[in-house]
Amino acid sequence: MKHCLFKSLMIGVCLAAAWSFAGAQQTAPVPTPSEVPEMSDTYLNDSANIEAGKEIWQQQCRHCHGASAYPGKAPKLKPTRYKPDFVYKRVTDGFRKMPGWKNIYTEEQRKQIVAWVMSESFSP
Ligand code: HEC
Repeated sequence: MKHCLFKSLMIGVCLAAAWSFAGAQQTAPVPTPSEVPEMSDTYLNDSANIEAGKEIWQQQCRHCHGASAYPGKAPKLKPTRYKPDFVYKRVTDGFRKMPGWKNIYTEEQRKQIVAWVMSESFSP
C-alpha cells in the first residue's frame, strides 16, 4: 500500500513537470520573422503611396539614414540593390541597430515606406 502511494505520487510529479514544460513551450517568445504582404508594381508605383512613405521617411528614417545624419550612423541606402521584400522586412523587424517598426506603423504604412524607398524619386 505504501509503495503504491509513492508510485502515484511520482506519476503526479511527472505529470506536473510535463504540464509545466508544455506550458513553458507555449509562452516562450518565438522570433518568427514577419510575413511579407503582396506589394504589386501598381501599388509600389502609386504616387499617393510614395508620398505617404516619403512623409514617414522624413520623420523617422532620415535622421539615421539621410544626408543630414552623421556619417557612419546608418548605411546609405542603395535601393537599386534591394528587392521590396527586403526593405519591408528590415522596416518591419529591424536588424541589429536598425529599429523595427512593426508596432509603430501599420502594415499599410510600412508598405508605403517601401514604395518610397524603391521609387525613382527616392533621395536620402
Ligand atoms: C536609429 C537609427 C535608425 C533609424 C531611425 C532607421 N534606421 Fe534603418 N538602419 C539603421 C542601421 C544602423 C542599419 C544597419 C543594420 C545592419 O545591417 O547592421 C539600418 C539598415 C536599414 C536597411 C538595410 C540596409 C542594407 O543595405 O542592408 C534599410 C532598408 C533601412 N535601414 C531602412 C530604414 C527605414 C525605411 C527607416 C525608417 C522607417 C529606418 N531605416 C530607420 C539605423 C536606423
